[in-house]
Amino acid sequence: MHTINFTLIVAAIAASGTLAHTQDYFQGPSGEHWHQWRAPRATDVRSPCPALNTLANHGYLPRNGKHITVPMILKAVTDGFNFKADALMVTIAKFGLLASSDPTTLNLDDLKLHNLIEHDASLSRQDFALGDNLHFNETIFTTLANSNPGVNYYNTTSAGQVMHARLADSLANTPNVTNSPKSLGIRGTESAFYLSAMGDPITGVAPKKFVNIFFREERLPFAEGWERSKTQTTLETVGRLSGILLQESNDVPTQPCEPHVLGPGITL
Ligand code: HEM
Ligand SMILES: *[C@@H]1O[C@H](CO)[C@@H](O)[C@H](O)[C@H]1NC(C)=O
Ligand SMILES: *[C@@H]1O[C@H](CO)[C@@H](O)[C@H](O)[C@H]1NC(C)=O
Ligand SMILES: *[C@@H]1O[C@H](CO)[C@@H](O)[C@H](O)[C@H]1NC(C)=O
Repeated sequence: MHTINFTLIVAAIAASGTLAHTQDYFQGPSGEHWHQWRAPRATDVRSPCPALNTLANHGYLPRNGKHITVPMILKAVTDGFNFKADALMVTIAKFGLLASSDPTTLNLDDLKLHNLIEHDASLSRQDFALGDNLHFNETIFTTLANSNPGVNYYNTTSAGQVMHARLADSLANTPNVTNSPKSLGIRGTESAFYLSAMGDPITGVAPKKFVNIFFREERLPFAEGWERSKTQTTLETVGRLSGILLQESNDVPTQPCEPHVLGPGITL
């Protein structure tokens, strides 16, 4: 009796292990194992960042989006997107940690803290003063989705134009909008990020299909033919692309840097 139960239990564990494994991973185009995409559950939390959400949806970060450390973020951006864990990523991840009231971990929704990293004139989120600065918004995303008409890719020209249009909208319509050297710098970096993660970190060309899935579904578009870039994205490649993007955007700050947001409820 004991023996039978024991055998059944072992068999059940083995079967569930196999099942979990096949659900969690699948074979990538070059034989590597990729994490499977799963929609977040009701109790899972997500961020205003499409990349961190994508990494959580694929299990490169905890799928519940909670208790995330800086080293976990660094490993996830490298494994998922081939972003180097250099000074740029370390700095962004440490900034992100400030959004949390816990000293060593963050929950993804902490990152909506306005004017820490989160800023106005986003590509896919509403401005803080207008409502929901956390979730993807298709109306806001229309500007990017309609950019570079006639071809099937986005590039630094179109991405710069989108930055300009999004800022113009915010300057015209958002009360108490922030457009500072800091927010502008972050916006340039983020546009470099989507071109690099979904396309090429050197040329800044990214297929529309991949970028749109990344924003709308927060999914790595393996099934559509995307592969993690073989060229690593680094402080240098991002610095170069974001410099081009800021030039192409013609955006300029309309105010000095806002008060420093250093944590929940802490502004100096
Ligand atoms: C692979 C690395 C990353 C990529 C490709 C990436 C990409 C992006 C993109 C494209 C946006 C703009 C979204 C929009 O304007 O609608 C964004 C926003 C954001 N990201 Fe990331 N990100 C990365 C890493 C990180 C890290 C490490 C953090 C912090 C821990 C972070 C925090 C944020 C936040 C708070 C926003 C919201 C900014 C806003 O739109 O107001 N990201 N990210
Ligand atoms: C999306 O943003 C637009 C423009 O700000 C707004 O009118 C709309 O209510 C937002 N949609 C959602 C679902 O929040
Ligand atoms: C981006 O694509 C558009 C449309 O093909 C093209 O006119 C523009 O020159 C491209 N920009 C760059 C930097 O190649
Ligand atoms: C205006 O924006 C600043 C910076 O985000 C914020 O600290 C302040 O509370 C806002 N003031 C009003 C009246 O909304």
